[in-house]
Amino acid sequence: MSASPEKPVLIVFGAGGHGRVAADAALVSGAFWRVVASDRNPATWGSELLPGVPVLSPEAAAALPGPRVVHVAIGNNPMRRGEAARLASIGPLATIVHPSASVAASARIQPGCLITAQCVVGPMAELGIGAIVNHAAVVDHDCRLAAWTHVAPGVKLGGAVQVGEAALVGAGSTVLRNLRVGADATLGAGAVLLQDLPDGEAWAGVPARPLQGASA
Ligand SMILES: CC(C)(COP(=O)(O)OP(=O)(O)OC[C@H]1O[C@@H](n2cnc3c(N)ncnc32)[C@H](O)[C@@H]1OP(=O)(O)O)[C@@H](O)C(=O)NCCC(=O)NCCS
Repeated sequence: MSASPEKPVLIVFGAGGHGRVAADAALVSGAFWRVVASDRNPATWGSELLPGVPVLSPEAAAALPGPRVVHVAIGNNPMRRGEAARLASIGPLATIVHPSASVAASARIQPGCLITAQCVVGPMAELGIGAIVNHAAVVDHDCRLAAWTHVAPGVKLGGAVQVGEAALVGAGSTVLRNLRVGADATLGAGAVLLQDLPDGEAWAGVPARPLQGASA
């Protein structure tokens, strides 16, 4: 493999299933000279996350030559935010966009985001640092995802939906337009949200209601 002055090495941090999704998207995007993975778990070191994507210790990843960028591939929002802060010295955060995603030219995407296969990000949508738009999710026009949010597979966000920092919008759920999912809130898988979801609460169901005793 020859050196490329234009493209950096990508370190995908997190050698689990979500890391595989990120590494796969990074490989097919062609945006990186080389893709490697890293993890704090020594049991993963020396293995491959995907064929041709070795898992290195954080120290070995930090010693890679050349321009480096980092993508934190951890689905849990607070953990992803924490690791990004710890890994800042290794390199700047990189956004990964799968080439099959449809991202409007007017959408604004901050560093560290992951936009996976078959997603739609509509015009004037905004994604904060470290946001995840997972497989086949729709983030429609004018939506605003704050930093470290996770929009899970198959979600549909209507126009101008706001998602607060580190909130999880669960798989297959729907949020009607103009509504807000609060910071650190969780919307359960398969829910249909018809009103604003307050900060820190967990709601689920059709229509979505507060979950008694659930952990957000
Ligand atoms: C909503 C959620 C966070 C609740 O998790 P939890 O705090 O562990 O709650 P529990 O599993 O203990 O369930 C608590 C109650 O809520 C119900 N419940 C849980 N998830 C539900 C959902 N998605 N829809 C409707 N009811 C749900 C349970 O049946 C249970 O009801 P009960 O008290 O009558 O028995 C979780 O079930 C969920 O949907 N997470 C989203 C996961 C996801 O999409 N991740 C992204 C993957 S990429």
